[in-house]
Amino acid sequence: MSTTSATTSSPNRSTTSTGVDSVAVDEHGHAVAGMFDAIADRYDLMNLVMTWGQEPRLIRRTVTAARLPQAPAVLDLAAGTGDLAFAVLSRYYGAEITACDIAPEMMAVGAARPGGDQIRWVQADAMDLPFADHSFDAVTHGYLLRNVTDISATLAEQFRVLKPGGWMAALEMSPAPRNVIKPFSTAYITWAVPRIASWITDNPEAYEYLSRTSRGFHPPQVIQRMAHEAGFRSTGYELHMFGTMAIHWGQKPLD
Ligand SMILES: C[S@@+](CC[C@H](N)C(=O)[O-])C[C@H]1O[C@@H](n2cnc3c(N)ncnc32)[C@H](O)[C@@H]1O
Repeated sequence: MSTTSATTSSPNRSTTSTGVDSVAVDEHGHAVAGMFDAIADRYDLMNLVMTWGQEPRLIRRTVTAARLPQAPAVLDLAAGTGDLAFAVLSRYYGAEITACDIAPEMMAVGAARPGGDQIRWVQADAMDLPFADHSFDAVTHGYLLRNVTDISATLAEQFRVLKPGGWMAALEMSPAPRNVIKPFSTAYITWAVPRIASWITDNPEAYEYLSRTSRGFHPPQVIQRMAHEAGFRSTGYELHMFGTMAIHWGQKPLD
C-alpha cells in the first residue's frame, strides 16, 4: 500500500515502521476498525448483496453529487476498499485521489485492486484529519457518519480541508420513512442482513452492528442541518431505495 505523510497539527500522529501514516484513534475507533478489518475480504460482496446490486449506481450518483472539476484533488473518507475512490478514478482523468480510513485491512484490499496504485491510501481518523486547510476540490464518503462519535466534528473537518467552492458528497443509510415499505425494510435490515452476513462472512456481528447503527441513525434532514451548521451551503439530499439510502451534499462557500 502506498501511503504518504501529510501535513498535520495533531499531537496524536505517528508514522509506523511500515511507513503507513497513522493516528492514535480512540477506543471506539479501534473497535470499529477491528470490525471492518475482520470482514475486509468479503466486504465488497456483502455490500453488493445488501444493496440488491444497487451499490455501483449509488456510488456513481454520489460522485456526480461531488460536482468535480477537471483533474480534481479528491479526498475519500471511510474509503474502505475504495469504491468511491475508484469511481472517481475511472471518470476523471488526472484526478489526484486520497483514500483515507481507520481500518488498514480494508484499504489493503482496495490497494490490491487494479488501479489501486494510482490512489494515495492514508490511515487516519475522519474526526482528526492529517491534511492542511483548503487542500481538496471535493470530499466524498460512503457510510462514514454513523460510525463516528461526533458527526459535527467530522463535518467540520471536511469543511476545513475543502477548498472554497469545493463540495462534500456522502452516501449514507437512512432510517426507513413511515410508509407501507417500512415493516419490510426494517425486517430486512434487522433480521435478514445479519443472516445473509453469516453465510457470506465469518463475522456476522459486524453486520448486527451495521443493522443497529442504521436503524438508530439520524433522518436525512438532521444530517442536512448538521452540514449547514458546519458551514456548508447549498446543502441537500436525495433518497434512494425506498428512502433507506440517502446521498447528501453541501458546498464550502467561496468567501
Ligand atoms: C461500511 S464501510 C464503507 C466503505 C466504503 N466507503 C464504501 O462505500 O463501500 C465504513 C468504513 O468506515 C471506516 N471508518 C469508520 N470510522 C471511521 C473514522 N472515524 N475515520 C475513518 N474511517 C472510519 C471503517 O473502517 C470502514 O472501512
